[in-house]
Amino acid sequence: MFAKACEENELRKGKYEVAAVNRTLVLIVWPQDSQPRAFQGMCPHSNEPLADARFNGKVLTCTHHDWEFDGESGACVKGKPCSLAEYPLKIENGEVLVDTADITPCRLG
Ligand code: FES
Repeated sequence: MFAKACEENELRKGKYEVAAVNRTLVLIVWPQDSQPRAFQGMCPHSNEPLADARFNGKVLTCTHHDWEFDGESGACVKGKPCSLAEYPLKIENGEVLVDTADITPCRLG
């Protein structure tokens, strides 16, 4: 079921927002060349929060051990083969809605 993550006007192109949706930490990432998307908020490596990750508009870097993830696909581009789980996202009436049901975050460690 979709639930509100944040307001649309809180999003900035090339940046990300952190939200809790149904008690799940979610990253709303808006890549420079794409549309906003919602990814799991915990790093697959050691299950640390990505809430303080660095994002250059293309690549998201976990500050804990510097694994890197593509901001469009969620694929790990530096670290072990894995991918951030992506949640369905839609924007309605100025609200960013995310559905976390039935999607299990990737977790290696
Ligand atoms: S917890 Fe993210 S790289 Fe280790």
